[in-house]
Amino acid sequence: MISKKEDLEKLEESKKFHTTTYGTRYFREFVPKYEIPEKGMPPNAAYQIVHDEMNLDGNPSLNLASFVTTWMEPEATKLVMENISKNFIDHFEYPQTEVIQKRVVNMLARLFNAPEETNFAGTATIGSSEAIMLGLLAHKWAWKKRRKSQGKPHNKPNIIFGADAHVCWDKFAKYFDVEPRIVPMETDRFTIGPETVADLIDENTICVGAILGTTFTGEADPIKEINDLLVEIKRSKGWDIPIHVDAASGGFITPFVNPELVWDFRLPQVKSINVSGHKYGLVYPGLGWLIFREYSDLPEDLIFYVNYLGDEMPTYTLNFSRGAAMVIVQYYNLIRLGREGYKNIATNTLKNARYLVKHLTKMGKFDMLNTAKLLPIVTFKLKEPANYTPFDLSHKLRERGWIVPAYTLPPNAESIAIMRVVVKENFSEDMADMLATDILKACEALEGTKKEEIVGRRSPREGHHIT
Ligand SMILES: Cc1ncc(COP(=O)(O)O)c(C=O)c1O
Repeated sequence: MISKKEDLEKLEESKKFHTTTYGTRYFREFVPKYEIPEKGMPPNAAYQIVHDEMNLDGNPSLNLASFVTTWMEPEATKLVMENISKNFIDHFEYPQTEVIQKRVVNMLARLFNAPEETNFAGTATIGSSEAIMLGLLAHKWAWKKRRKSQGKPHNKPNIIFGADAHVCWDKFAKYFDVEPRIVPMETDRFTIGPETVADLIDENTICVGAILGTTFTGEADPIKEINDLLVEIKRSKGWDIPIHVDAASGGFITPFVNPELVWDFRLPQVKSINVSGHKYGLVYPGLGWLIFREYSDLPEDLIFYVNYLGDEMPTYTLNFSRGAAMVIVQYYNLIRLGREGYKNIATNTLKNARYLVKHLTKMGKFDMLNTAKLLPIVTFKLKEPANYTPFDLSHKLRERGWIVPAYTLPPNAESIAIMRVVVKENFSEDMADMLATDILKACEALEGTKKEEIVGRRSPREGHHIT
């Protein structure tokens, strides 16, 4: 969101126009930045302006802040370009795209162990946020319907999730008018505990949220324990409260490298799961998935049927139009890599993340919070006392192009500031060496104890390993 005021502030600090560049090669007059120019310009001139400006963005390959895919194979990119002009929602016009969506929903429901006897259902979304909102909306609706049919009040729904949840959970609560009951973090626990959930539950709880790979530290909530609690509540009180698992990051890692971890539809109260195709699903931005254990968990009156695209078709999405290309390349990835390929990539990514952990541990400057045990996510905080903050370190690293965010944890752990590295498949051991070297150099510069030549401290092993 950008407001006009913000724009004006920006105007003050920068000029209103793109000034002429490259002599007069492309254009001779200033080009307005905040108004549509009266006249257009040749495509090469417009391209050059925009292209040059985009150089100011960070380098996606060094963006260790984002969970989102920054590299795909050339064949996938070719498929993206071949399908970039297709609107996904035009199922009548692009029937094969819809067939592909159905295949992926089937593959994911089976990956998440939907029992074969269930009539699972699912949809592609723009990302996990949309998937989560749609999943939770279905649970709100189902709760309301149930309460209505029992002649009970249905105006005070609540939802339970941890302070470790992504902001899209808070958005759901606000946008869809559901009371959020948030389990706080502690200074020594960054996920939710089933005991705390138990204290918050009542007959108006529409759903409990549990996360496989939190945004803050990459850990998992105790999903099985929460399930056991809800099974017991169902038995003793008759409240059938569903779990929605937010597997945005974990859903494409855990099933391949840790299949024995039970977090998915093998647990009876897990009724819906989201996963981000554009995170470890290895697809470029713009793709999430929502899977329901049972089609009947999705109330029929939330599904709309429209006929203006040539055929009567059901839709359950927040946005109508969206690109089809990412759905298509998710299918490409799944058949191209197979279970074996996803497992190899996830295993290698975890290995590289743990390799980075070794470096960071050896430096002796950090307390490690997540050592990439479950997902390839590394979080750490500065050992006390330190004469600089993680924010200083984050800024310093930016000088070398690395994007490593620093942030404080949510309540009640807000006193802790941490840094996070999300390791993706393009992040090699070599890159871990370079990052570790740069982190060490940055720390020493901030401490005022800069040493001579860090890359010289190599192990005898081939390659670049600092010791
Ligand atoms: C655990 C979790 N849930 C949900 C989201 C939101 O996902 P998206 O960006 O795909 O909307 C994120 C994003 O990082 C996440 O980490």
